[in-house]
Amino acid sequence: MPVRSVKKDIFSVGSIHWDRRIFDELIPLPDGTSYNAYLIKGSEKTAMIDSVDPEKWTELEMNLCELGIKKIDYIITHHAEQDHSGSIPMLLKKFPEAVVVTNDKCKAFEIDLLHIAEEKFMVIKDNETLSLGNKTLRFLMTPWVHWPETMVTYLEEDKILFSCDFFGSHYAGSDLYAGENPIVVHGAKRYYAEIMMPFRTTVAKNVDKVTAYDIKMIAPSHGPIYDKPEIIIDAYRDWTSDKVKKEVLIPYVSMHGSTKIMAEYLTGRLIKKGFSVKMFNLPVTDIGELAMSLVDASTIIIGSPIVLAGAHPAAVYSAFLANALRPKAKFVSIFGSYGWGGKMVDQLAGLIPNLKVEIIEPVLVKGLPRAEDFKKLDQMIESLEEKHKSL
Ligand code: FEO
Repeated sequence: MPVRSVKKDIFSVGSIHWDRRIFDELIPLPDGTSYNAYLIKGSEKTAMIDSVDPEKWTELEMNLCELGIKKIDYIITHHAEQDHSGSIPMLLKKFPEAVVVTNDKCKAFEIDLLHIAEEKFMVIKDNETLSLGNKTLRFLMTPWVHWPETMVTYLEEDKILFSCDFFGSHYAGSDLYAGENPIVVHGAKRYYAEIMMPFRTTVAKNVDKVTAYDIKMIAPSHGPIYDKPEIIIDAYRDWTSDKVKKEVLIPYVSMHGSTKIMAEYLTGRLIKKGFSVKMFNLPVTDIGELAMSLVDASTIIIGSPIVLAGAHPAAVYSAFLANALRPKAKFVSIFGSYGWGGKMVDQLAGLIPNLKVEIIEPVLVKGLPRAEDFKKLDQMIESLEEKHKSL
């Protein structure tokens, strides 16, 4: 990414990773990502805000070289995960006088994860400020967005919130600013679903905390800068609220077509009843799309055949993932087909203890579904309709 001026004496110096396709070996990244780092030149001191994934260190180094930076006084590190902290050891080698500024938890992580010497750190607390001369950095602790040590920085004079992962989006694009581009919010929802959603109520509190400040711009460490910050703030308020959509997710896997027939029947009937439905054929599903849908949906109905006396591994994975992501869904059910028998329903239900859901009567069918089996699926839908009246 070329060096770009965000405002007078504030520069974007990070890197775009156009072709990264998976994060944490878990999260598909269809639109790539970026590791944003910022340089702030105050009248007396110069500060870096975060760094880049170590794979992109050379790009950051070249950008700092282009700006003619000879001295960095402070490296503000918001979060110890290596896509932001991983190039700090290289920065310290190049700018040995720099002091690493962070909270005590992040310091401890970075000593372990990056072997940064303890004496290189300056530890700050919530609401503490650091002056760069004509610019003031205010540090706000925002734990669990998405690690215990996460924090953000509010640049008071320019009213910019440097938010690291918070509000970020996995989106590689050449525009410095998000404007009203819905693709950026889409990328932010994918990111929220996969790392923030498990901490939804804490994230909501942190949204309230940071929005107590007058924010003109949010500069995250992934994706474009929000020059209209209310768009992403409103989206976060919606995602973290207790509200659910009248939407049913049907993640399913079918070996010989019987479970698929049931999935399609359910989908068709639910649409007719006015539900919004998303069907996911698990073996060909982008898990990120499923995670994004879990942000809003009221209902999850998992479909699986019984294979070797248990649920299909693809269905097990989706239930395990949903349990880890802790979506705000209210209802769960299970359906599927078997030849020999087995404990698929108990097995899948046992995988989701974190979900605060009511289980709607599952429907299990021997072989191809018959007329009486479709009636049971109709009953499942009727039950769901009834439950939705109370929402
Ligand atoms: Fe972008 Fe939690 O790292």
